[in-house]
Amino acid sequence: MNNRCILQLAVLLCFSTTALSLCYNLLRLQQFNSSVECQKLLEQLNERPADCLSDRMDFKIPKEIKHPQQFQKAQAAFVIYEMLKDIFHVFKKGYYNPDWNNTIVADLLRELDHQMDLLNTMVVEKLGEENKSKAYSGTILRLKSYYVRIWMYLEAKEYSSCAWRVVRDELYWNFSFINRLTDKFQN
Ligand SMILES: *[C@@H]1O[C@H](CO)[C@@H](O)[C@H](O)[C@H]1NC(C)=O
Ligand SMILES: *[C@@H]1O[C@H](CO)[C@@H](O)[C@H](O)[C@H]1NC(C)=O
Ligand SMILES: *[C@@H]1O[C@H](CO)[C@@H](O)[C@H](O)[C@H]1NC(C)=O
Ligand SMILES: *[C@@H]1O[C@H](CO)[C@@H](O)[C@H](O)[C@H]1NC(C)=O
Repeated sequence: MNNRCILQLAVLLCFSTTALSLCYNLLRLQQFNSSVECQKLLEQLNERPADCLSDRMDFKIPKEIKHPQQFQKAQAAFVIYEMLKDIFHVFKKGYYNPDWNNTIVADLLRELDHQMDLLNTMVVEKLGEENKSKAYSGTILRLKSYYVRIWMYLEAKEYSSCAWRVVRDELYWNFSFINRLTDKFQN
């Protein structure tokens, strides 16, 4: 059996069991892989260099996201899920950016959607409402406002090429933070 088969079997096993620690470990590998895929696609979106210095913006990320040391596994899972979802919604709008290749945007959306699906089935759904409402009461609300600021920025800049460029770069680096959060899945 090759590695891909073993991985798929393990995912199936994880779908049908409540053994969360197995799922966390699997998901960790899956998530790293998916982040690499997403970053590759994002690199292809803007190949031409552009000088968008004057459009730079500090979107003011909640500071606890930058210091995930204090996160538990479950909270990290909810935060990653929310980030993938919000990134998905930003790029869905990216179909309308004439500078971008729609095929690549579509591939990116498919990858994000697939990863959200896995994350949801393997871990998030199993964590229960209590843990969910705890996670959603603080950090995740602040995280949502961060993505709302990104939306408002794009709108204020009338979806200009440079604005999209700035947002693309911001979200590209978000995957490094997702990877740091993913590290929490290890035990
Ligand atoms: C990583 O992702 C790519 C694209 O989605 C996929 O083809 C590959 O099999 C994945 N590798 C692993 C180990 O999941
Ligand atoms: C869009 O990207 C796809 C996949 O990389 C490529 O095959 C296609 O030629 C690109 N289209 C344009 C107009 O650049
Ligand atoms: C969910 O929260 C409860 C109460 O805080 C906790 O006892 C339980 O371990 C959590 N479940 C998981 C899977 O983390
Ligand atoms: C997204 O990336 C930017 C740029 O590196 C970073 O400042 C920000 O904290 C990241 N946001 C999230 C939610 O990880």
